Amino acid sequence: MAASNTSLICVNDYEKAAKGVMKEAAWAYFSAAADEETTFNECPAAYKRYYLIPRILRPIEERTLSTTVLGETISFPVCISPTAYHKFAHPEGEKATSKAAKSCDTLMILSSISTTRLEDVAEVAPGGLRWMQSYMFQDKQLFEILVRRAEASGYKAMVLTVDDPREGKRYKTIPYGYVGIYEADGMGMANFDVDIEAVRKAKVTGDKNLTRYGYEQTNSYATWNYVKWAKTITNLPIVVKGVISPASAREAVEAGVHGILVSVHGGRQLDGLPPPIEMLQRIVKIAKPAGIEVYIDGGVRTGTDVLKAIALGAKAVFVGRPVLWGLALKGQQGVQDVLEIYRDEFDRAMSLTGCKTIKDIDSTLVLHKSNLHTAKL
Ligand SMILES: Cc1cc2nc3c(=O)[nH]c(=O)nc-3n(C[C@H](O)[C@H](O)[C@H](O)COP(=O)(O)O)c2cc1C
Repeated sequence: MAASNTSLICVNDYEKAAKGVMKEAAWAYFSAAADEETTFNECPAAYKRYYLIPRILRPIEERTLSTTVLGETISFPVCISPTAYHKFAHPEGEKATSKAAKSCDTLMILSSISTTRLEDVAEVAPGGLRWMQSYMFQDKQLFEILVRRAEASGYKAMVLTVDDPREGKRYKTIPYGYVGIYEADGMGMANFDVDIEAVRKAKVTGDKNLTRYGYEQTNSYATWNYVKWAKTITNLPIVVKGVISPASAREAVEAGVHGILVSVHGGRQLDGLPPPIEMLQRIVKIAKPAGIEVYIDGGVRTGTDVLKAIALGAKAVFVGRPVLWGLALKGQQGVQDVLEIYRDEFDRAMSLTGCKTIKDIDSTLVLHKSNLHTAKL
């Protein structure tokens, strides 16, 4: 396990180390966030505004970390957020991440703008639990083809990213040119190579145009009607990713989604949003009575962060950049090492707060700093 490596003791250690091995443009792409990066910086910081209020002397000797997401069992509640372009981090790209997720017995969401075809990602890790992310492509035919392929390859849900009608302004990537970054080193958007008229046209002058086409497709001015339509073309559960406002959560419930991933896209889209952990409880209050699972991502860096999110109502947490850091450093092994740090720290956090199972983790274990002197305990 990575914890035996004295320079890679915690998840944040991987960030510094990964920066050291990555190409400048790739690092700019992975680390970038929108505008002044206020939301990005607030995401991890917000977790520290919650104190843990443990129970002691509980029978915690034998603990179980496993839980379910949309009815499927995972060995602990830390899953992989969809992030694009894993081959920027490591030549084995999404295949390495997929094998690591399977090996750690957890869920991976594959980005639709991956550098590996979704079929190949599934094939290298048979039996692994995977969901397929998609933007609401301008071309609905493209979306439908992706859904059919995900179904055929055993993906268990479609995750619709709803916070990206257009890309946030990321200062760090501008010097490299948006599409320029995507085209670097001949890496393409592997899932877009499908046989439809628009793609055939885009390919006329080579793969660079295909990537440009794929990139443009991700920016669409879709509405809730798109989500409702997506529900009509597949039996896969629909999860919406990128909900931060309670009003949008209500609309998601009305649209009949199966899951809500409370997320600010890692601070890469709209700057000035509140950190997800601060909005989680309010969204859970809206979604849970409707039987809708709520997940969270953004700034989860320690096992105690995981415990706080579960205590405030998340069914599971997702992590984005930390997976890329592990991948950049040591491929599959690096991703596994990062996930095992989360598992170990989360297990420790459960022990130290007196929790034997996930069900024992409830809101009485956390207290927002602002309530410290007034809350009835
Ligand atoms: C390099 C990078 C690429 C990303 N690509 C996608 C993507 O293709 N689709 C998507 O829905 N979210 C994408 N995201 C957002 C992540 O899914 C996730 O919301 C975010 O990274 C969580 O925050 P964290 O990195 O602090 O864990 C990306 C994030 C990063 C850092």
